[in-house]
Amino acid sequence: MRQPEPDRDIAAWTRRDALVAAAGLASAAVLAPGPGLATARPIPFGSAAQIETFRTDPRYRQALTSYCDVIVPMNDLKWEAIRHDRSRFDFSGADELVAFAERNRKGLRGHALLWGEALPPWAREMSTRAEAERELVEHIETVVDRYKGRIATWDVVNEVIKFEPLPGEPMRDTIWQRLLGPAHVEIAFRTAARIDPKARLVLNDFNFEEPGPGTAARRKIALDICRRLKDKGIPVHGIGMQAHLYADKPLDIDGLQAFMVELGKLDLDVEITELDVIDWKLPADAATRDRAAASLVATFLDAIVSVRRPKAIVTWGLSDRYSWVHEIFPRQDKARARPLPLDADFKPKPMMAVLDRFRRSQS
Ligand code: XIL
Repeated sequence: MRQPEPDRDIAAWTRRDALVAAAGLASAAVLAPGPGLATARPIPFGSAAQIETFRTDPRYRQALTSYCDVIVPMNDLKWEAIRHDRSRFDFSGADELVAFAERNRKGLRGHALLWGEALPPWAREMSTRAEAERELVEHIETVVDRYKGRIATWDVVNEVIKFEPLPGEPMRDTIWQRLLGPAHVEIAFRTAARIDPKARLVLNDFNFEEPGPGTAARRKIALDICRRLKDKGIPVHGIGMQAHLYADKPLDIDGLQAFMVELGKLDLDVEITELDVIDWKLPADAATRDRAAASLVATFLDAIVSVRRPKAIVTWGLSDRYSWVHEIFPRQDKARARPLPLDADFKPKPMMAVLDRFRRSQS
């Protein structure tokens, strides 16, 4: 997970301020993608679903049913949820969300088979290579097998790339990297493919979109990892872009488009997997924030969709009533964050119209 970086964020604010202010005034025409409505099947749209909210709020369940083609258990397929007890697997939360998705004929994405975070304490304390490999392989075998043929796409590895990579140090420092080295990625993909050869297997990571050499290095590392897997005959089908977009930072449009071209050369799909807008530095006015968020999402999706049509567009939650952004990126004025396509009363915001247009557009 990307931690807030107040200094960096504030430094970027002045530059972005003007852009966002301009974007806030953008007309509906500006928000629309270039090409007109088309006959191609819409890009599947989905959302991550939180189990607690899912259980308690019928409007939330209704919104998932009405708006989503795809459901992603937000936290219930993470190690923390499934492996809190080392001696058994607990699928209670995941099973509930998977059953809901199946009952409502929704597709499913699985998030995530390997991550350096959301680990139970015992997993953080693993100490040998053999132990880490045994646990990782057994975990992936058990989880992928349980949902074989039902969860069509897996985030096999999540956030394995270093935030600001150094030359020769591409990988993030996690328990997996410490005990297994870069081979952890290969082990994870190989195991997932062995258990469910029909599953789509994705490398998921954040920040592929900001300008700067660090982000460019991250894009290159993602491509290099996938290329190496393919060279070894290990299946990898796509790269997931989390796309937690900072409203106060610029997007690297050229970098994004070049990334899409490179993905195409490797025959990799792109998926937008955790889209939301971090609006902690935007002005207080709700309508201004909503227009700025919609405009940012439009600019981002235009850069992607104009080069490569995503396999799915997934937001990290649906309604502003429930979002991690509110907790992790609190606003100074304490106002509720507005990162998502539905407002806190489940009414569609301008971002929803943007998502809808892009889903239906022809690239
Ligand atoms: C977040 C969830 O939204 C929170 O509910 C949870 O407390 C922490 O994790 N990148 C990821 C996601 O890959 O799994 C994270 O989800 C957000 C950042």
